[in-house]
Amino acid sequence: MIEVKNFSKIYKLSKKQMAKLKTKDNIKRAANDISFFAERGKIYGLLGPNGAGKTTTLRCIATLLNPTEGHIYVDGHDSVKDSIEVRKKIGFLTNELKLDQHFTPNYTIEFFGGLHGMDKKTINKRKDELFEYFGITSFADKKIEDLSTGMKQKLSIAVSLIHDPDVVIFDEPTIGLDIITARAVLDYLKLLREKGKTVIISTHIMTLANKLCDNLGIIINGKIVANGTVKDILENTGTTDLEDAFFKLYKQNMN
Ligand SMILES: Nc1ncnc2c1ncn2[C@@H]1O[C@H](COP(=O)(O)OP(=O)(O)OP(=O)(O)O)[C@@H](O)[C@H]1O
Ligand SMILES: [Mg+2]
Repeated sequence: MIEVKNFSKIYKLSKKQMAKLKTKDNIKRAANDISFFAERGKIYGLLGPNGAGKTTTLRCIATLLNPTEGHIYVDGHDSVKDSIEVRKKIGFLTNELKLDQHFTPNYTIEFFGGLHGMDKKTINKRKDELFEYFGITSFADKKIEDLSTGMKQKLSIAVSLIHDPDVVIFDEPTIGLDIITARAVLDYLKLLREKGKTVIISTHIMTLANKLCDNLGIIINGKIVANGTVKDILENTGTTDLEDAFFKLYKQNMN
């Protein structure tokens, strides 16, 4: 389970960043007093437009960044004080995962399995399952520099799951994937839900959020502006369609 409590993240901006953003402020509040629960055996979705604060929130859950305010607990462990325990529990997929261009998928996944303290036999068993499931086997011995974006994304997904984590944090999981592989990834997330794992994803894709997620947090401008099941959100916004609900909330919260 993930508990996010009054979480805010403020970035300090460099002069270069300030110039790029055409702002005189030297800070950016990327997450603003966010609170929600992501339960075990459920898929929680952070749905929001570009720059809303999705990646920032997921990075703080994954202990890559510390919250500026508030607390995040993963299965009861504080993301700052018990970050080592949190790291043992989570699998984190981010689109910025840098895969070494000279390594092969086989070598990469064995390397990450080793980092998690897994023995060779367990790594190989798990690797075979994941490579088979995500269709990686046919290019397992090619150099990463020769792989397509989709192939790299598949490998990143397998790498993030090698140690069979209890808590799965996927930032934009279907980015760069064709429809067939995207479906395989979503089916896998459902499988993880059935196994009782805690799954949290970020997305800007309405249909994905609608179909896959048990609970949603709509995030706009660093704030959670609606939280609950799709049904709850439609009821609370007086709409019949998630896209309409989203635009209504967007208009209310961008002014
Ligand atoms: N390291 C950083 N330093 C300064 N500002 C940052 C940093 N990272 C993100 N931001 C800013 O914080 C805000 C939230 O960014 P974030 O990446 O969390 O959004 P997002 O919802 O993941 O967007 P996207 O859909 O584009 O991935 C944006 O305005 C972004 O420019
Ligand atoms: Mg992002």
